[in-house]
Parts: sequence; C-alpha cells; structure tokens
Amino acid sequence: MRTQVAIIGAGPSGVLLSLLLNNSGIETIVLERQSQAHVLARIRAGVLEWGTVQKFREAGLSTRMDKEGLLHEGVFLASRNNLFRINVLKATGKQLMVYGQTEVTKDLYNCMETAGRQILHNVKDVRINQLKEVKPNVEFINQDGRCGKIFCDFVVGCDGFHGVSRKSIPDNEIKVFERIFPFGWLGLLSRTRPLKDELIYANSTRGFALASMRNQNLSRYYLQVPLQTKVQEWSDQKFWDELKLRLPEQITENLAIGPSIEKSIAPLRSFVVEPMQFGNLFLVGDAAHIVPPTGAKGLNLAISDVHYLSSGLIKFYQNASREALEYYTETALKRVWKAVRFSWWMTNLLHQFPTSTSFEQKIKESELEYLKGSIIAQASFAENYVGLPY
Ligand code: APR
Ligand code: PHB
Repeated sequence: MRTQVAIIGAGPSGVLLSLLLNNSGIETIVLERQSQAHVLARIRAGVLEWGTVQKFREAGLSTRMDKEGLLHEGVFLASRNNLFRINVLKATGKQLMVYGQTEVTKDLYNCMETAGRQILHNVKDVRINQLKEVKPNVEFINQDGRCGKIFCDFVVGCDGFHGVSRKSIPDNEIKVFERIFPFGWLGLLSRTRPLKDELIYANSTRGFALASMRNQNLSRYYLQVPLQTKVQEWSDQKFWDELKLRLPEQITENLAIGPSIEKSIAPLRSFVVEPMQFGNLFLVGDAAHIVPPTGAKGLNLAISDVHYLSSGLIKFYQNASREALEYYTETALKRVWKAVRFSWWMTNLLHQFPTSTSFEQKIKESELEYLKGSIIAQASFAENYVGLPY
C-alpha cells in the first residue's frame, strides 16, 4: 500500500488529523489497534477549549456538537465552604464547551464515514521502519491475520501514551520529563442532574473533588484516592457520602444521587518527551505528553498539536516547504509546556499530598482566597483554563 501520511492510532488526534489533511487533498491511512466499538465506548474527559471547538468545526463536526454541547461562561473553585466563581467569559471573551470526548469521537468517526475514509481497526504488531529515509514504511498484521506494509512520506504517532510510535525513536534521541503524582482520580458517571450549571473544582482536607457533567441528565464526579485503591472498594453509597464531605456544605443538599453507570480509576502524571519528532516521524497528543486531568488539558493539547502538524504538512505538500515541519517540536512544545505548568499548578493547589502539612494546607487555602478576591489573579487563571491562543 502507498499513502502520503500514515497515522498510527484512531483516537481523537489521529482521526482529526486525517480529516484535516484529507480536506486539503492529502492522502492518509489510519491504523488502530482496537475495534471500533472499543474506541467509541471509552469514557474520557469532557471540557473543550474554544480553539478545540473551532478545530472540530473546521473538520466538519459542528452539527451535533453545537446542538448538544453545553456552553460554559465560568467555573467554580472551592476550599471547603469557601465557594467562588471565576467569570471566564468576562476575563477572556471566550467560553468553554462541555461535550464528552466519547461524543467527539463518535462525531469524528461519522465524518470519516461521510467522507468515505476508512480506518483499519484491530491491527496488530505495528512496526515503523526507515524513519530517517525519504520513504519510511509501516508494517502491521491486519484483522484477518495478513501482513500489510504501507510506504509513505511521513508517519504520525497518534497512538497515545502506550503506543508504539514513541518507542520507535532511539532512546538516545529523546529526553523524558516526568512527574508522577502520588494519587489517582476515582470517576463516577451517573444519570443524575448536575450539581450546578458549571464545574466545581474543590480542595478539602479529605482530598480533592470535582463535580462535572456531560449533559442536563448525566453527571461526572471525581474523588482523589490513594494510588493503590481498587474500584471495588468504592460502593456507590461510599462515593456519594465522601463526595458530600469534600464539597462545600451550602451546595451538597442539592446533590442528586443515583446508581453509577461507570466507575474507574486513573493515575495522575505529567510527562513530556522532547523532541516530538524524529526523521519523518511526528508525535501528537498523548504519545508525546500526558497531563494530570486537573484543568482538562489532555484532549485540548492533542488538538493543538494536530493544528500545528496539519498546517506544517499542508505547507509541505502545497509549497514544497519543510520549514514548518522542522519547527513542529519547537512550536507545539511552547504551548504544551504552558499547559503542563498550569495543570501541575492546579493539581498542587487542589490536592492533598501524603506529605502535606497543615502549613501547606493553609497556603493552599490562602491562595484560593487570593484568587477569590483578585480580578487580576482570576484573569490569569481564566486565560489558561480557557486555553492559550494557538
Ligand atoms: N497500533 C495502533 N493503534 C494503537 C497502538 C498501536 N501500537 N497503540 C495505541 N493505539 C491506539 C489506541 O488504541 C487509541 O485508540 O491509539 C489511540 C490513541 O488514542 P488516545 O489515547 O485517545 O490519544 P489521543 O488521540 O492523543 O487523544 C488525546 O488526550 O488526555 C487525553 O483523554 C485524552 O484520550 C485523550 C487524549
Ligand atoms: C470531566 O468531565 O470528565 C472532566 C472535567 C474537568 C476536568 C477533568 C475531567 O478537569
């Protein structure tokens, strides 16, 4: 097989990149390890920055997203009973959209189908070869057990943190920057009305809590839990009881509880590799960087990488200029590191660490009190939360 750009991974970044390139007449083949049903069932985060919304519109995704997505103009922060709102729209002129990544992925797959583009699912043993040559190639085993080989100009690794692309770069050509946090998030999805019309990020001495949502009758909540925690240790009742203890008292009487429809635990880490390219291979999204979910930057960062890389590839094919591709790492990483910093800062501010002292808790409460009272501090928070410009 031959194509111009071989894309490994059909999560949001792989599919969006394929659609944007195809819109500019560039051919792609997308390889995905999992089945379509598996990819479409994954529950992930759900807050879209304005730049992300615009990128999705550019790829032709707007109809359902604009109808069902919830526009948010602000966000709440809390330190036990001290609850306050940051008006993001007023500070930045921009809004956020709450629209689950699960729905985004469904829409992206529908766009692929409408455009008559295929994703090769259930592929195994993907190997990327000759990355320093003019024509790299990708070998794989297809779903019928046959060997396939794609000759291409570029390979793009959109295959997430556990993918094969990053591992195809020699160790001595790449540098890893990492911070593993000593706790995880236990998430619960329930068919209940959300606690408030906007998200609430709460610091409490019992640990962090987040009240989020997917729509008017679907809520998503998270609790900070120790790393070794198992989902089975948390009955729904235990979850709701603990959540009430961590959120501000003045709102918990409104908490609508109900049976969970999904419960899972995710560890928290910050991780960045530099550079994000090697020869004719480029890394995008979780393949190159991970952020803790505090601040909801993961998906949004993947989309900003797609923005920079797609424009570099389009320039290459339209003007025969490799310059934007040569600068891909430098351009993308500037924005990545700022989001890594923001999500690290927010994680530190809102969570309890095993070594936390009462002094540190006082500092966190004082920082939240400062944010509550300072329009200037709120503007800086809002600018980062809504997403820095591309
Ligand atoms: N071969 C083919 N596909 C692979 C391989 C492989 N060796 N390894 C992983 N994949 C696939 C995964 O099955 C998955 O569908 O690559 C895809 C990667 O998708 P995501 O993990 O969703 O990563 P990405 O597209 O970068 O999405 C951005 O940011 O913080 C997160 O939750 C957020 O998942 C979101 C991500
Ligand atoms: C979510 O709704 O899943 C969500 C929202 C905000 C975050 C993380 C996750 O920061």
